[in-house]
Amino acid sequence: MSLDADFYKAVEPLFVPGMGTEHVGPLLYSMVRMIRPRTALEVGLGYTSPFLARALKDNLEEDAADRKVLAEAAEDDQRRVVLRKEFFELPYAPRLIAIDNYSDNDTSAPRVLESLYGLGLDDLVDVHQVDFRGHAGKLDRALLPLDFVWFDAGGPLEYIDFLKEYWPLLNPEHGQLVLHFTYWNLTGMYQGREVSNMLCGSITNELKRQQTSAGFDARFEVLSLLEPHKGRQGSVTLVRKLAPISMCRDSDFRDEMAEIYGATPPPMPVLR
Ligand SMILES: C[S@@+](CC[C@H](N)C(=O)[O-])C[C@H]1O[C@@H](n2cnc3c(N)ncnc32)[C@H](O)[C@@H]1O
Repeated sequence: MSLDADFYKAVEPLFVPGMGTEHVGPLLYSMVRMIRPRTALEVGLGYTSPFLARALKDNLEEDAADRKVLAEAAEDDQRRVVLRKEFFELPYAPRLIAIDNYSDNDTSAPRVLESLYGLGLDDLVDVHQVDFRGHAGKLDRALLPLDFVWFDAGGPLEYIDFLKEYWPLLNPEHGQLVLHFTYWNLTGMYQGREVSNMLCGSITNELKRQQTSAGFDARFEVLSLLEPHKGRQGSVTLVRKLAPISMCRDSDFRDEMAEIYGATPPPMPVLR
């Protein structure tokens, strides 16, 4: 399976243009395919939901094939050489926890379950029709930690409530959070200058500020993707928790290379 024409046709009725997730759906699909989460959480259902569910289903198939390769294939098999055996020590039975209280008049959220059923993806998804606030403690503990989270429900105040409650549930080893609509189109005066550009929104600015202030002790990293042709709903910010071994090291590139390869390369250019 993959995102074929039949899939796009089936999910088209869930698309609400004002939500702006036409490219986010396929992006989330690819991210979930790469990250192979055991538990994914979506807050704010709609067009993006079947992309997440389909990614988990495709992961399940790929994971089964990989286990077969590890069990049966020769040591030099091309797939086998790229696999990391430790990942396969635990079983892979992915779930999508999907939370929405159906409070938005324009949302296609109430139709998601029926669409998942039509696509044969409903068995991977637990839909919780609730307010996300105050619900973290009610999630099945056996499904934690959360390896992948897509949050698309509300504005800055909801983001604060969400981070307070759900950030501790994100896997400390590479848990990936994706936030929507995190840059704001600004046309007018800003700090005494006339501007028309994408302003780093307050939540993203705070995330980056905390990351920068923590320096080498930063336990997460932040990256944003922008759709410059959109004035609204045209940005996502990715936040990944850093396992201790993937934190930034205060060690020079040339010293590390010399230690690993026994030869000193030319210096890295300083990027500005
Ligand atoms: C922007 S829409 C989601 C769009 C969807 N991801 C898509 O691609 O079509 C936001 C959703 O969040 C839901 N929502 C808003 N506030 C919520 C809350 N406090 N708890 C749970 N869901 C909420 C709304 O009902 C709505 O379905």
